[in-house]
Amino acid sequence: MSVFEFDQSLQLGVQAIDEQHKRFIGYINDAWDALERGDDSEEYLYILNQLMDYAMEHFSFEESLMREFQYPGYDDHKQNHNRTAEQLFEFDMRLLAASPDDCRAFVQFLQDWLQNHIKVVDVELASFLKSKGVS
Ligand SMILES: [Fe+2]
Ligand SMILES: [Fe+2]
Repeated sequence: MSVFEFDQSLQLGVQAIDEQHKRFIGYINDAWDALERGDDSEEYLYILNQLMDYAMEHFSFEESLMREFQYPGYDDHKQNHNRTAEQLFEFDMRLLAASPDDCRAFVQFLQDWLQNHIKVVDVELASFLKSKGVS
């Protein structure tokens, strides 16, 4: 598994959002590392929990910014977060019984989702915020 890098293509130009995406990606990489190292489950479950908590924190952060600036795309963007939050919740429910392969599949899902979400959905929010003077 190659490292998930925060590169130019993911940089949206709103500092607080970019910082959080970097951190989100950092947690994804930590999860890969723990799974690659073959850490015991206590270790990687702890990291997966951190990753899921951070994802939820990030969704709330973006949603509060959207409300603050009365973003017209709020409902769609929130629904997109909600669908992923449901998948996080569902995975969390079976986390204790999950095999390392299940965990890898989950981290891969989240990585693909995040990459796509930043480029397709968050980019719209960032350009709206920039038009409101947020940088
Ligand atoms: Fe988002
Ligand atoms: Fe985001």
